Amino acid sequence: MQKPLTLGIAGLGTVGAGLLDLLNQHGGRFAERVGRPVEVVGVSARSRDKSRGIDTSGLKWFDDPVALAKAEGVDVFVELIGGSDGIAKEAVEAALGAGKHVVTANKALLAKHGVKLAKLAEQKGVALNFEAAVAGGIPVIKALRESLVANEVQRVYGILNGTCNYILSSMTDEDRSFADALKEAQELGYAEADPTFDIGGFDTAHKLAILASLAFGTEINFEQIDVEGIQSITEADIDAANDMGFCIKLLGVAARTESGIEARVHPAMVPEESAIAEVWGATNAVAIDADFCGNLLLIGPGAGGRPTASSVAADILDIARGVVMPPLVTPTDGLKPYVKSKLGAHHGAYYVRMSVFDRPGAMAAIAKRMGDREISIESIVQRRPRSAVPGVAARQKPGAPALVVIITHETTEEAIRQAVDAITQDGQVSERPQVIRIEKLGEGEVS
Ligand code: NDP
Ligand code: HSE
Repeated sequence: MQKPLTLGIAGLGTVGAGLLDLLNQHGGRFAERVGRPVEVVGVSARSRDKSRGIDTSGLKWFDDPVALAKAEGVDVFVELIGGSDGIAKEAVEAALGAGKHVVTANKALLAKHGVKLAKLAEQKGVALNFEAAVAGGIPVIKALRESLVANEVQRVYGILNGTCNYILSSMTDEDRSFADALKEAQELGYAEADPTFDIGGFDTAHKLAILASLAFGTEINFEQIDVEGIQSITEADIDAANDMGFCIKLLGVAARTESGIEARVHPAMVPEESAIAEVWGATNAVAIDADFCGNLLLIGPGAGGRPTASSVAADILDIARGVVMPPLVTPTDGLKPYVKSKLGAHHGAYYVRMSVFDRPGAMAAIAKRMGDREISIESIVQRRPRSAVPGVAARQKPGAPALVVIITHETTEEAIRQAVDAITQDGQVSERPQVIRIEKLGEGEVS
């Protein structure tokens, strides 16, 4: 039997503790499975005394993750601290620079510095593995790096953030408030250290940036992604979506278009009968449209200690098997520049929710603004206000803002934004209308 593959693990929070638990439970079988045992030779976290629900007493402690990353006797540095810069970046660079393999779950780091780190790994002939960085326990990096490598991928999209999906599911199914649902997601270990990364859509964008690079063979370009979070989603949107046969999901979408890559993160309406609409809680779904394979939909746990540790451990075992490949599939010298398509050119149907002053001519004025831009209305509904007293119907007060929901036929992003600007300027609405894209799904996702 070969000598053990030795690990230095930095970060013993949700994912790090999950990894130690997995190694305790299954580590004894790794030698049989991959021909080589795996051994933890050092760990690092901020506080040595913190109770973590796992026994770390027998493990060599490093106060400084950079020292652990460079330590003699460490074959693989496992970075589970988080953050795009600071200590996580310093430690990963130190490990790669010292010729150590690196396994990380850190999508923020990769989205910002992935190409530079991949180049360093290639120069040193070591692995930089990051299955856990996208969609937790779903093996989507492996799917793109290995299983679909012979295809041309047209589009990759899906639910990439467990926290947001958990919040939207709780608001839809259990009538929970946004704040309560977020608090619960944090307690369950799904959220980032700073949850605005989740709810603001940035975590999804970090993951999408990585997926787009793997799918299209381009440089990673997080900055070029158009990002909207779920903060603006209200109970009124959730109710209206339900009534109209839709479900609201935070999607990340990256597609090849004639003018470049369209990459966007935003809440989207999806038909309630689609497979993606049935993805609840912290579960993620990643759809890939590939030319020879066709449409693929991967669904599974997207966050939490155990599923994420499963992906981290798979990356470690690949190294134990001797698998080392260019981190971004295409060697970094061959990555194409990222060319962004114009978001204004996006073509699709839209949901528009407005608080319209309930007075004669208001609807006609709104319809005119849409018609002026060739936007055709598929449906228009004036909804009664929510009743504050159960069992007693609420009445619309004349002149007060009334909730109006419009669904458009397909149009362009530019046209809908211009129409909404004009409607707002006309003073027909009490606040800027809410606009949500209605996403066109691939054949595989409509059940
Ligand atoms: P946590 O906040 O739970 O854990 C972070 C760990 O890093 C803690 O153990 C903390 O120490 C340690 N740490 C922070 N600063 C330092 C420092 N300066 N020196 C040494 N250790 C430090 O994060 P998660 O486990 O949730 O996430 C870790 C990584 O995994 C992140 O990149 C995250 O994006 C990613 N990820 C997380 C998922 C999840 O579901 N949670 C899923 C997929 C990826 P201490 O414990 O002492 O405070
Ligand atoms: N905060 C992330 C999420 C963790 O909620 O999906 C998994 O990447």
